Amino acid sequence: MNQPFVAFLGGANVPIIILVVALVGFGIAYFVVGPGKRRGPKRHADIPLAMRPYHSDEELETTGIERAMAWGVALAVFSALFLPIYWLIEPTRINQAVDEFYEQDVAEGRAEYQNACAACHGTNLEGGSAAHPDEDVEAPWPAPALDNVEARYRETEIVDDVQEFLINTMVYGRPGTPMPAFSVAEGGSLSDNQIEQIAAYILSVQTGEVPEAEQFVGRSGEDVFDDSCARCHGPNAEGGVGPQLINVFERYGWSGEDDTTLEQARNHVEYVLRNGVYFVDQAPMPSFDQRLSDDAIEAVIDHLESIQQTGGPRTGQIGGPPTTGDPDGDDAEDEG
Ligand code: HEC
Ligand code: HEC
Repeated sequence: MNQPFVAFLGGANVPIIILVVALVGFGIAYFVVGPGKRRGPKRHADIPLAMRPYHSDEELETTGIERAMAWGVALAVFSALFLPIYWLIEPTRINQAVDEFYEQDVAEGRAEYQNACAACHGTNLEGGSAAHPDEDVEAPWPAPALDNVEARYRETEIVDDVQEFLINTMVYGRPGTPMPAFSVAEGGSLSDNQIEQIAAYILSVQTGEVPEAEQFVGRSGEDVFDDSCARCHGPNAEGGVGPQLINVFERYGWSGEDDTTLEQARNHVEYVLRNGVYFVDQAPMPSFDQRLSDDAIEAVIDHLESIQQTGGPRTGQIGGPPTTGDPDGDDAEDEG
């Protein structure tokens, strides 16, 4: 069906147009085949209804029956046309309405994003930074680019549905990091609807490209730790938003001596590092698989190994349950 015609019929006009067409059609039909005006003087007033004279037999068998049949044909034609036309128009109309709502959401989401998020994540979602919550720390806290968030999380094991992930991140924020909770229920200022609109906007402007891993040339494992881990795990790996990492090898089964358990602990750390850990309402352990080169991942694990101690606390988690520290437990796939 051609576009202007559909557009003309679109929106709320459709039922009205159908009604008008039906009424006009009915009017014409009534005029053409209807009962017509009774002629003659009103002479039946005193005769009981059932005994008044009606059409003659001859009339009933010719014009009468023709009239009735014409009505039947007119109605049949009407329903034969009405249903398919309606069936043709309706899906387009619904789609247009959905598109309109979607575009409206995106437009409003864009405005809300500029108010609530752009200061940290950049006016074009290119990323930015925020002050560290600890005033003594000068290094700003990076706020990730959001124009590639879909591509970055699509392949990871910790997020199934990027839209839901965006919504939850806005709802709960990331406690312990500068990312605030925005939902009214969590003390923020955005309604569920506004949060969904912002998510729609963010998803509508994805570049689809994953940025290249950081260059590792000329850097040490300790540099990588300072840049990428210290803000959550503490400058000396003593813990903060994330658990302390000083005896993480021991927590993952390293005896402090033999090589098999060392290898096992390193593998577990690498698994966490590559895949990340995500809980809906906490700061996550980010996935570093795409962000750090293989060299950098190995170097930062070497660095962690070099600062390991034994005999410390069995759990390092601050503010939540640790990942299972038992390498024989349900993390069997980590031991590869
Ligand atoms: C005060 C600064 C600030 C504001 C305002 C802010 N954010 Fe954030 N946001 C951050 C920081 C910092 C992080 C990274 C936290 C971390 O290291 O885990 C973050 C993380 C995120 C993430 C996770 C990104 C990823 O790659 O894992 C999303 C999504 C997000 N913010 C969306 C938003 C949206 C949408 C808004 C506006 C409603 C917003 N943020 C407002 C600072 C901010
Ligand atoms: C945005 C904050 C954040 C950043 C940045 C971060 N982590 Fe984490 N990390 C966490 C959190 C939170 C956990 C705890 C996850 C959980 O509850 O299992 C964690 C857990 C871990 C664990 C598992 C600890 C355990 O006891 O199970 C290791 C190992 C780890 N991180 C290493 C690193 C390294 C190495 C880096 C830097 C390349 C890093 N993390 C960067 C927040 C972060």
